[in-house]
Amino acid sequence: MLKAHYPLERFSSIRTPFYYYDMALLRETLEAIRAQVANRPAWKVHYAVKANHNPVILKQIASAGLGADCVSGGEIQAALDAGFAPESIVFAGVGKADWEIILGLKAGIGRFNIESTAEMRVIAQIAAERGVVAPVSIRVNPDIGAHTLAGITTGLAENKFGIFHGQVEEVIREILSLPSLSYCGLHFHIGSQILEMEDFAALCNRINSICEQLENRRLPVGDINVGGGLGIEYGHPNHLPIANFQAYFNTFSELLPPRYPLHFELGRSIVASCGSLIARVLYVKEGLAKKFAVLDAGMNDLLRPALYHSIHRIENLSSDGKETIYDVVGPVCESSDVFGKGIVLNECHRGDLIAIRSAGAYGESMASQYNCRPLARSVFSE
Ligand code: LLP
Repeated sequence: MLKAHYPLERFSSIRTPFYYYDMALLRETLEAIRAQVANRPAWKVHYAVKANHNPVILKQIASAGLGADCVSGGEIQAALDAGFAPESIVFAGVGKADWEIILGLKAGIGRFNIESTAEMRVIAQIAAERGVVAPVSIRVNPDIGAHTLAGITTGLAENKFGIFHGQVEEVIREILSLPSLSYCGLHFHIGSQILEMEDFAALCNRINSICEQLENRRLPVGDINVGGGLGIEYGHPNHLPIANFQAYFNTFSELLPPRYPLHFELGRSIVASCGSLIARVLYVKEGLAKKFAVLDAGMNDLLRPALYHSIHRIENLSSDGKETIYDVVGPVCESSDVFGKGIVLNECHRGDLIAIRSAGAYGESMASQYNCRPLARSVFSE
């Protein structure tokens, strides 16, 4: 069984479970993005902090010159602390609290992506009270589906996100009438873990028809933030560790007119592959119908499989034994605390080190202390 190379000797003295980050792979991924955008000066990539807010990871990404995409005051603060330029920070989210709006205004962030007219008016009022002008873009609900997990589509009319695309014109007019707001552009995001470029192509078609309509009415379009969502190959982390950035960026450059400056908000595709959750086998349990490998990591450490039935490749790092089929489960008192069913692993024994791959995105950032379990620490390759 092909496995990634890990420093097992180093691992032997670290208490499991922990997150392990391959910083060389993170840098390689950032370089792959840089290579795509280097000749496109009007493009800006913002890292979606929600995917992983570990300060070491954030600093590495900030030093590569990316902006930050934040969805809370806490994320704005984490981005500022890590060295992201305030003007490179964009702030989205359907429920921005007053203190978060004030934090963004004080810090001088680059954009508030407004999700409703109610929110727009509150931002206008708070900015006016402070004598400042808030830069805003409209988060548009494009009513475009995506071929991904139901829990992570965001661009359908039934989803809570954004302002319906048919209302954009009237919202722009209102923004233009409010002196404490400056209109900057449009923002979209159709979902996450998207591998079919046709989904992004459908988004481009919708963007083009909205922009055409605005231009016909002599209304400004501004810049266009197409959101994030590029997926990774969870099944093949050893063969395909870097997302297909070329196909992704080419889709937008081919389908959107070059006169619009473009912004992107990538999360998963930047950090997923570089992270693994490392655990140990506590027990091998022979059930009536199957064998269970019971790990010392649980759904509180990595929630994705329990929440979305998502697949992560799992490897036994300590064994070359006979390939055997296991349900790989955690210790949490929930039947859904399962990392994978019917997983082929080299024969497991108590104490074996297990890697749950591609856990760098939405792993540590979604961890909790459910069952009073301590948060897994993070370990870096350097
Ligand atoms: N921009 C906006 C407005 C978003 O809502 C998101 C993700 C992103 C950018 C980044 O998307 P990415 O490039 O990472 O796909 N917890 C789920 C994923 C939730 C994504 C939420 N929004 C998971 O573990 O799969």
